[in-house]
Amino acid sequence: MAQKDNDKVNPLWGGRFKDSADDLMQTINASINIDRHMAKQDITGSIAHVIMLGACEIITKAEAEAITNGLQQIAVEIEAGDFEFFQEREDIHMHVEARLTELIGSVAGKLHTARSRNDQVATDFRLWLREALDGQIAMVRKLQQALVLRAEEYADAILPGLTHLQTAQPVTFGHHLLAYVEMLDRDAGRLFDARKRLNECPLGAAALAGTAFAIDRQQTSDALGFDQPMANSLDAVSSRDFALEALSAAVICAVNLSRLADEMVYWTATGIGFGTFSDKFSTGSSIMPQKRNPDAAELVRAKTGRITGAFQALVLVLKGLPLAYSKDMQEDKEPVMDAFSTLDLCLRVMCALVGDIQMNREKMALAAGGGFATATDLADWLVREAGKTFREAHHISGSIVKLAEEQGVDLTQLSLEQMQSIESEIRGQVFDILSPQNSAKSRTSYGGTAPDQVVYQINKWKERLT
Ligand code: ARG
Repeated sequence: MAQKDNDKVNPLWGGRFKDSADDLMQTINASINIDRHMAKQDITGSIAHVIMLGACEIITKAEAEAITNGLQQIAVEIEAGDFEFFQEREDIHMHVEARLTELIGSVAGKLHTARSRNDQVATDFRLWLREALDGQIAMVRKLQQALVLRAEEYADAILPGLTHLQTAQPVTFGHHLLAYVEMLDRDAGRLFDARKRLNECPLGAAALAGTAFAIDRQQTSDALGFDQPMANSLDAVSSRDFALEALSAAVICAVNLSRLADEMVYWTATGIGFGTFSDKFSTGSSIMPQKRNPDAAELVRAKTGRITGAFQALVLVLKGLPLAYSKDMQEDKEPVMDAFSTLDLCLRVMCALVGDIQMNREKMALAAGGGFATATDLADWLVREAGKTFREAHHISGSIVKLAEEQGVDLTQLSLEQMQSIESEIRGQVFDILSPQNSAKSRTSYGGTAPDQVVYQINKWKERLT
């Protein structure tokens, strides 16, 4: 980073200082490497402020126009990458004001009338996060769409449903994918709630107490797309719960993604082989030629730690912090920005992985037939057809499983006589319900795994997501 102004005391508060800051002081104090990512929001906020100052005749219309033009030029410079950042200019607010002075002279000094960096940074950060939340809500929608497409393709593909990672009951792969569509919908809801609650404007709270200038806070709030100005100036400059709330929604979303990522690792594991990633999303090993590793899914699984860490970091910054502003709060942006760019990457990667994975219907169906996965269907049949209570039926079915296990066969491979040796009321018709396909097909209760139900839900989602 270039050096400038170093021989002078700080131009913003030089009046009461004799010496410039120590290098170390500058190093710990500077936030420009982080808040340069809010340059756009900073300028947007400043333009809204200066237009309001003009409209309220706190500065002249001509001054407001000169400042606005200068700010617009700075926005162009930043966008083009022509803007220089200097360590000793601490943060983005000081950078913009210093450049504005270079461009339009001392009238730039009027920009900061009736404003402080405290309300300014709170406004910038809310604007930044609002945009990030909108972006991530859209990404979650994209991932839901990708999942619905694959769910449609595999609406009737059977795989073993697991509990405790042990074979439980056959389910359809479409149904399994739709479970994630539901989870992601709640993630979008949480991100949206965070967005709604953060959308109030701190600008005009000034340092902490409001201002004696006759400003119009409604005007700046409207200009910046906020729902209303914040009602308490202390709260406006001190609150970062909006960032915590957004982070907590990001954490939960990342946790949900990590579960899908983990299942992808499982589906593609040696010895399971339900799914394969193409070469585009597989990695090899530098030593073992046979390898085909699911690194992208593993990394999505792992990045949950980083996003959760961001939440922890901000919680601890804010814990016990008195009103109003303390410089501690400058540590708020880095974790939030890192968490949201990480979440963005994870969501984009998951969209790609969901589209890429190829499932092996035969292997899944074969596995779904093993592990006595239809023992519950047998118990249900005994309730329906032989008048047993579910407890009795559970016991009988368990004894039949035990017999099959001793014989080293599946339930379908037992003879009717063998079954009848345990329960005389069993009839040949029972074999109809013992296949995993029929088991899944029979689970037609609302929200159940039957292909009919899956198709019903797919149609609902298709309508909702367009
Ligand atoms: N860079 C600061 C931040 O991010 C801006 C606010 C500075 N305010 C102050 N009172 N020093 O929090």
